[in-house]
Amino acid sequence: MLKSYFITGTDTDVGKTYVTAGIAAAMKKMGIDFGIMKPFAAGTVQNRGYKSQDVQLLSKAAQVNDAEELVNPYFFPIPASPFTAMQNLGLEIDIKIVLNSFKKLSTMHDVLLVEGIGGIMTPILKNYFVTNLIKEMDLETIIVTSSRIGTVNHIIMTIKMCQNYGIKVRGIIINNLNSSGYPTHDLKRDIEELTETPVIGSIPYIKDFNLEKISQIITNKIDLKSLTL
Ligand SMILES: Nc1ncnc2c1ncn2[C@@H]1O[C@H](COP(=O)(O)OP(=O)(O)OP(=O)(O)O)[C@@H](O)[C@H]1O
Ligand SMILES: [Mg+2]
Repeated sequence: MLKSYFITGTDTDVGKTYVTAGIAAAMKKMGIDFGIMKPFAAGTVQNRGYKSQDVQLLSKAAQVNDAEELVNPYFFPIPASPFTAMQNLGLEIDIKIVLNSFKKLSTMHDVLLVEGIGGIMTPILKNYFVTNLIKEMDLETIIVTSSRIGTVNHIIMTIKMCQNYGIKVRGIIINNLNSSGYPTHDLKRDIEELTETPVIGSIPYIKDFNLEKISQIITNKIDLKSLTL
């Protein structure tokens, strides 16, 4: 049976979008009907297509063109968490809108990949974090981490919070963004020993990114079949 996943990270900028786009593109090649969602996005508004650059890339990867209010119900034109954006822009966030979009998209596709925002405890409302959203969507999660020195601390905190909230972690993907970071072998060994969570693959540093490249890398480096059980 196919499964949908919530892709989260140990932090912002660790490669959630690259990895999610790669999985979507690779799975699409396997003939799976994929939908994507980024419930909250922030940053600079794009001139064309979706407001969010992340959403633009994810839709291209999954070859979907779903309505913006479904794939990205909330976009904030400032680099901030939903909670801070709400404070600064005087907006209200209605989680029901996000959950309804998620439900609708779930009926439109066989499988959904949902990209989170920031890390696992990024605040959306007071007392409502990314963890709460994952729980309400009832999804398993995949955690993307960089190889930066210091990430073991972030990984352990992320996994502990998932445990606190009763979120199942399917696995961790190491994204080798940092040439001066941990060697993959050491990081994988230590993460698996410390957290008892499998590292399901590692992505090398990609020069001149394109979707074909990341999709090939994901196909070779990640056991995609294990994600469809
Ligand atoms: N494997 C890689 N090789 C080279 N560059 C990468 C790789 N992964 C990510 N990057 C670069 O790192 C930056 C962050 O990646 P990405 O946007 O995927 O992170 P993110 O976790 O989705 O961030 P956000 O929290 O903003 O959604 C991007 O500029 C991307 O170009
Ligand atoms: Mg992203």
